[in-house]
Amino acid sequence: MLRVMKVTVVQHPLLQHKLTLMRDRETGVKEFRELASEISMLLAYEAMRDLETEPVRLHTPIAEADLPMLSGKKLALVAILRAGLVMTDAVVRLVPAAKIGHLGMYRDPETLEPVAYYSKLPHDIAERRVFLTDPMLATGGSAVAAIDTLKAAGAQSIKLMTILAVPEGIRRVQDAHPDVEIVTAAVDERLNDHGYIVPGLGDAGDRIYGTK
Ligand code: URA
Repeated sequence: MLRVMKVTVVQHPLLQHKLTLMRDRETGVKEFRELASEISMLLAYEAMRDLETEPVRLHTPIAEADLPMLSGKKLALVAILRAGLVMTDAVVRLVPAAKIGHLGMYRDPETLEPVAYYSKLPHDIAERRVFLTDPMLATGGSAVAAIDTLKAAGAQSIKLMTILAVPEGIRRVQDAHPDVEIVTAAVDERLNDHGYIVPGLGDAGDRIYGTK
């Protein structure tokens, strides 16, 4: 098996600035959501850096030229519900022809393990490059379960896009799925006893949707 085990931490100052604003507990729902969208697009810019292009001959108003256009496998964005939705909604603005899948999972508050309740994926996912979105890579349980589901459906090329990660979540994903690259905006210190990332940004779903 190909062992990639790659984690990309996108350290662009613009993205880091926006992430700090997201972390601030005084940041309200509207701004939090906007920041999550903007950060998702910046992450996608990095995660999609290796998309293939091929030259296409066309006429500009001035001259004829061979110019790059996306080629290769088509894309699928897959959101882990519910917080991952804000990320796919943002990223699809950059790649509007991408198909979008949804995986419903919640964390059992006692065991902190994922419980799957919904799965709807593009039927041709095996032929697509998949970008899986979940803002928080905490224990890694949901991410591993989501990747298991994607692979069972035939997906062969998967990248995980996440806004915050912790080392134990990264390790868990890498142990289970070493071929899956992780693209994140930051790697925080640790998880607390309730499974929250420290210093983190709180419950991403609650802050995106204004629930508590
Ligand atoms: N999920 C969240 O929304 N926040 C955390 O800190 C950990 C998991």
